[in-house]
Amino acid sequence: MALSNENIREVLAAQAHIWHHTFNYINSMSLKCALQLGIPDIIHSHGQAMTLSDLVDALPIDNNAKTLDYIFRLMRILIHAGFFSQTKVNNKEEEGYILTPSSRLLLKDDPLSQVPYVQTELDPYFMDPWHSLSKWIMKGDESSTTPFAFTHGKPLFDYEPKTNRLFNEIMASDTRLVASVVIEHCKGVFEGLKSLVDVGGGTGTVAKVIANALPEINCIVFDLPHIIEGCEASKNLSYVTGDMFQSIPSADAMLLKSVLHDWSDEDCIKILRKCKEAIPSKENGGKVIIIDMVLMEHNPEKGDNKSYETQLFLDMLMMVHVSGKERNQQEWEKLFFDAGFTDYNIIPTLGLRSIIEVFP
Ligand SMILES: C[S@@+](CC[C@H](N)C(=O)[O-])C[C@H]1O[C@@H](n2cnc3c(N)ncnc32)[C@H](O)[C@@H]1O
Repeated sequence: MALSNENIREVLAAQAHIWHHTFNYINSMSLKCALQLGIPDIIHSHGQAMTLSDLVDALPIDNNAKTLDYIFRLMRILIHAGFFSQTKVNNKEEEGYILTPSSRLLLKDDPLSQVPYVQTELDPYFMDPWHSLSKWIMKGDESSTTPFAFTHGKPLFDYEPKTNRLFNEIMASDTRLVASVVIEHCKGVFEGLKSLVDVGGGTGTVAKVIANALPEINCIVFDLPHIIEGCEASKNLSYVTGDMFQSIPSADAMLLKSVLHDWSDEDCIKILRKCKEAIPSKENGGKVIIIDMVLMEHNPEKGDNKSYETQLFLDMLMMVHVSGKERNQQEWEKLFFDAGFTDYNIIPTLGLRSIIEVFP
């Protein structure tokens, strides 16, 4: 491209744009580094704004000009990213670091901690498949079903202890948070139910929250044998192993949290049909409750671009790790009607995700 006076600004802005995207990973890696150093917990334990020098003293490193500089720069980018903030330290002229709502969710012992989610998604094992995305795309239909399987030789949901453990950790940390919000603010969705199957319910994180909060509901966690191996039943919570493509235990309602986005349209229709076979009619209270994303309409003028971009990240993640996708309202509606359901209701109260009630 030849440079003229007219386009020089445009070219420099384009280069800056390319750099911004090229180095986007530095946001993720800086966050990972802060978690590995335990910085959110250290600042939390300090109990008040923490100076740079106090922070370096609390880390297992020497306090010298070099380490002060490293931690200052790490904290500066994470302040910019909204993970920490600064305020005057009591009785001192100096500024100190404090937590923000995002880093409060990154305390290891917080019941809603997202630490396992961040650590696992940023583990090289889960990131390696991204390096093979173009090779996998070029292999076309003959390739493995996902870049994950292409890289590791097995799909994510096949039994493999390391993947299994890491994946359960990701899901449980997300699910604890979502389940708490659902039970606090959307309890009405479960009104009138006497029984519920959490299809692909993992180790039962959501079902446990529902079973505790609503003792009148008999909750069944349904998943593959190696996932629920060793999980313990309680009064109104039980575990059943099986394959959701074959048959699902009957109940008033089926819950599918973060399940359908793992699968292609054809597979989702098969799962939804199996769910429909397992519930009573709409008049008798039957329904499927889905917790997943509804892709928002992209409107740069009006829309929330950060949320839209995060939804697109998750859509790409579903392509790379599993054979799934995120769907907009029209795509969801088509799935429901193709699977034989007659009506649905979207409750957009879960941030990036929604609750969708689907009726037979
Ligand atoms: C993304 S996880 C969601 C787990 C849980 N619903 C949650 O949100 O925490 C998908 C779950 O589907 C389960 N799954 C995959 N294939 C299945 C099958 N054929 N039958 C039953 N469960 C299956 C996986 O084992 C996994 O636990």
